[in-house]
Amino acid sequence: MAELSLPFQSKYLPLKKFHDFYRRSMDEPEEFWAEQARHLDWFKTWDKVLEWKPPFAHWFAGGQLNASYNCVDRHVKTWRKSKVAIYWEGEPGDVRVFSYSTLYTEVNKLAAVLKDCGVGKEDRVALYLPMIPELPIFMLACARIGAIHTVVFSGFSAQALADRANDVGAKLLVTADGGFRRGKVIPLKQIADEALAMCPSVEKTIVVRRVNAPVDMEPARDCWLHDMLAEETPLVTPEPVEANDPLYILYTSGTTGKPKGIVHSTGGYLVHNYAAYQWVFNIKEESVYWCTADVGWVTGHSAIVYAPLAHGAAIVIYEGAPDYPTIDRWWHIIDKYGVTIFYTSPTAVRMLMGYGEQWPQKHDLSSLELLGSVGEPINPEAWLWFYKHIGGERCPIVDTWWQTETGGFMISPAPGIERAPLKPGSATLPLPGINADVVDEAGKPMPSEERGLLVIKKPWPGMLLGIHGTPERYQEAYWSRFPGIFYTGDYAVKDKDGYFWILGRSDEVLKVAGHRIGTAELENAAVSHPQVTEAAVVGKADPIKGDSIVIFARLNDGVSPSPTLKQELAQHMRNIVGAMATPDEIYFVTKLPKTRSGKIMRRILKAVANNVSIGDITTLEDEASVDEVIKSYHELKQTG
Ligand code: PRX
Repeated sequence: MAELSLPFQSKYLPLKKFHDFYRRSMDEPEEFWAEQARHLDWFKTWDKVLEWKPPFAHWFAGGQLNASYNCVDRHVKTWRKSKVAIYWEGEPGDVRVFSYSTLYTEVNKLAAVLKDCGVGKEDRVALYLPMIPELPIFMLACARIGAIHTVVFSGFSAQALADRANDVGAKLLVTADGGFRRGKVIPLKQIADEALAMCPSVEKTIVVRRVNAPVDMEPARDCWLHDMLAEETPLVTPEPVEANDPLYILYTSGTTGKPKGIVHSTGGYLVHNYAAYQWVFNIKEESVYWCTADVGWVTGHSAIVYAPLAHGAAIVIYEGAPDYPTIDRWWHIIDKYGVTIFYTSPTAVRMLMGYGEQWPQKHDLSSLELLGSVGEPINPEAWLWFYKHIGGERCPIVDTWWQTETGGFMISPAPGIERAPLKPGSATLPLPGINADVVDEAGKPMPSEERGLLVIKKPWPGMLLGIHGTPERYQEAYWSRFPGIFYTGDYAVKDKDGYFWILGRSDEVLKVAGHRIGTAELENAAVSHPQVTEAAVVGKADPIKGDSIVIFARLNDGVSPSPTLKQELAQHMRNIVGAMATPDEIYFVTKLPKTRSGKIMRRILKAVANNVSIGDITTLEDEASVDEVIKSYHELKQTG
């Protein structure tokens, strides 16, 4: 955990400005956040900055605003009308550039299409689209009319799409004829058709033409987007919504088998994201910002769409795979568009590091000023490679810790306020307004350098409003462990300087290439295979992906394990969840190690999967005898 001597940081010590700003945010949180909120345009000012009835927070109660107005309309009233909003590049190399003026026109057009489809305030719209401009534009169009969007990542299967569209009660689905990925076409409409057969609430489907693939159209339900666009550009007045009206619902995995629909507000969410984006990325008028995440995840919602566009920033969006058609595709894009801020995931850095620095060296990356990392812990080796070979030993790296639930950045360096000394692998300090701590099982603060649970002790504006449809589950998942305190599910350590080191999940949630997947969800998918009676899923440490998926499956009586069955089960996981659920290893076992009360002993399975010793089994919190545990361990090690 050594501090790194970086050329750009010593002159910024001793962080007085940051600490004063932070202190104020803790001492006078309501005044502090009200000040931040004034950077947005409100149709009506709030009556109260915070109504806090634990665990429900209403920020800027009574205030009225519109997210699409804040991201688009207010810019076209200024010189930014002709500023580039989006540089979009498709995987085959096609390019579309949108100024704020064109973006305004497009958002209005799609908002009119939504209205023509009968979509109104609070209706739910599912977006199942590749990384094409229509995805952010439809999000903004929904926001414009007060409809709530649910983006479903285009790598999800038909079943996953149907589960989400049904849970949210979607009225409309927007999809495309397909999307490009590594030169292949992903048949999104075909997958959507399978899902739609299971989605009674969806009345209409809008299809965007992207790949020119033939698709089946159901005349009573499906319409091509290009057939619905009006010749004249219609103007759709942005609907004023209350600050706590939901902007979107985004599904994420937790410890149960069912994904949770995280509901985000409009006002608090935008205020948090607007402020934190400035602090973390130090965004300037001339910045060119590229976040490589998919819009289908929270990173895409907050850090591609809402925060950058609310700032009137110029952003880059790229449709395809990082290493296609050549390994230097990303470095080429940075060079081509003069990207100044580049925000990506540790998995991507590790993958591109594996190809070697000769690839970035072919390009001029001197435009870069700031690098960012998100989604998983970044190991010091990847951090240093990123710093040296991409940032040219000139650019600070902001390692941003946050979650789908937090809505915006929480723990991160904040060069927009003052540059803190960086330590490779640490997300550094909580941002202003964020009261984070590391506690023990009883909720008491841990001494420094000792591992504990990461919690947030005070409400913050970007926090989720709840879990769609289930207030009890919201209370139970985040607020029951430590009453009045938000439980993040992560392990962390605070060092002697108060720096936070995030150590990964403390629950049964995996991070596979940065994608968050609950083991319970994967187990449900595995046991839905007709030959599988019982399954347990654990993570195995992977040098590139963070976690990889290992399945221990018990087959039905009389079914013999075979390599074909392994392939079938792997394919089944892809069909039920999506490609990110593909297991790296499958072990067929005759018995899963269990406690006497029938609980699967995951620690043993993890030890087997990771080929490590089971450690001090006498501390296991289960009723099984030590002998039984050892016996199961050895039996399992011999299987597979
Ligand atoms: O475990 C933490 C990890 O990602 C989880 C949240 O995942 P998700 O909701 O998909 O959102 C990811 C993008 C915001 C966290 O509980 N995580 C996120 N950022 C970091 C991280 N782990 C370590 N360092 C980070 N910077």
